[in-house]
Amino acid sequence: MKEDDSHHPFVIVHRLDGERIHSCLKQNNMLDNDVAPVVLEHQTIAFPLISLQVYEQGREKVVAISSIPLELVFLPPHYMEPTQPHKRLHSMVTEWWNDIPKDTTLGHLESFLELLPRKWERLGDLILFPNGSFSEDIWVKLSNDSQTYLWTTIASALKVKGIGIQSPIADNVLRSSQATILLGDSQVSFLDHGIHYQFDAAKVMFSSGNITERRRIGALNMKGETVVDAYAGIGYYSFPMIINAGAAHVHACEMNPASIEGLLLGAKKNQIEDKITVHQGDNQTTLPLLKGKADRCHLGLLPSSEAVWGACLEALKAEGGWLHVHMNVEEEKIGRWKKSTLERFKSLNDELNLGFSIRGDHLERVKWYAPFVRHVVFDIECRPKKS
Ligand SMILES: C[S@@+](CC[C@H](N)C(=O)[O-])C[C@H]1O[C@@H](n2cnc3c(N)ncnc32)[C@H](O)[C@@H]1O
Repeated sequence: MKEDDSHHPFVIVHRLDGERIHSCLKQNNMLDNDVAPVVLEHQTIAFPLISLQVYEQGREKVVAISSIPLELVFLPPHYMEPTQPHKRLHSMVTEWWNDIPKDTTLGHLESFLELLPRKWERLGDLILFPNGSFSEDIWVKLSNDSQTYLWTTIASALKVKGIGIQSPIADNVLRSSQATILLGDSQVSFLDHGIHYQFDAAKVMFSSGNITERRRIGALNMKGETVVDAYAGIGYYSFPMIINAGAAHVHACEMNPASIEGLLLGAKKNQIEDKITVHQGDNQTTLPLLKGKADRCHLGLLPSSEAVWGACLEALKAEGGWLHVHMNVEEEKIGRWKKSTLERFKSLNDELNLGFSIRGDHLERVKWYAPFVRHVVFDIECRPKKS
């Protein structure tokens, strides 16, 4: 719903609180993705809201989880480029509505358009809508033919071949997805900054939110290195480490056969299959086979990869190397977590008699995982102690 265009509702917060409020508004479906945020005077930023009503309904919740007071203002909106797909979606769904047989139970076009998802994730030729999309009663009132026609209309408005609904990441160790495909094929393949990825979206998760970390890892210098990727998935980090960072070889540990299938297909498409060795199975079993082989270990499992910290230390060569440790940590506990993590690695180092000197380097805040909880990556350097 759009209010009067010259008086669009925004909330103003201090720039330093911007990231947290942005993520809270997004999670509570209050943020208007069609309108650009506005940078104002006195280090403040204004985020556009979907409507005043949505603000009134969600305000208390956002203040409670963020502990940040919100100020409401009305500003003229500046509609952003991505408004185009939304506009196309609305106009093509309107044409579809005018085309299908209807009875009174379907209600009005305006309320129907309100139910259309406002955001989505594009994975190659497939668009996944958020969990819970199309769950209202109205969708089941549509005949099968009208439904199929609608899915085709939505796909063509958004210029993809298939659409589906994202389910929450399965709460299992494989982090498998259970996306429901409404139209088209669940096999997706796409290019992200020159790197091909390929996988079955109905079986494997792909976190677009980790894009900044994939870039950061790819920008490090790994020239000629042998790397162990302890949780390789479909190559989210293994591929940038080879293609962009220059690693000579990646030992990719992965236990989900569907991810391995994607990893191998992607490696072939990127023409790096000779630079990857897949170690299929639980990494508790496969990592011990890689003792002393690595210049670097990547430990990309959330909420924690602690189960293999010792095995990854042991996988480093005698001359030592780097560890990239992913973890979900409460923002205010990050300092303490860094300290305790280094202590834990130091005691594992002593227990395993490895003789490394262990030093914490950069800590990257990748994204907000939940309110107050950050996905972080800690870069740790391990080198032989000088005698
Ligand atoms: C979060 S995904 C990795 C995704 C990628 N690192 C990222 O952050 O985008 C974790 C991957 O680790 C795999 N995995 C989880 N536990 C494992 C284990 N014990 N041994 C081998 N692979 C495991 C899962 O199958 C999944 O593909």
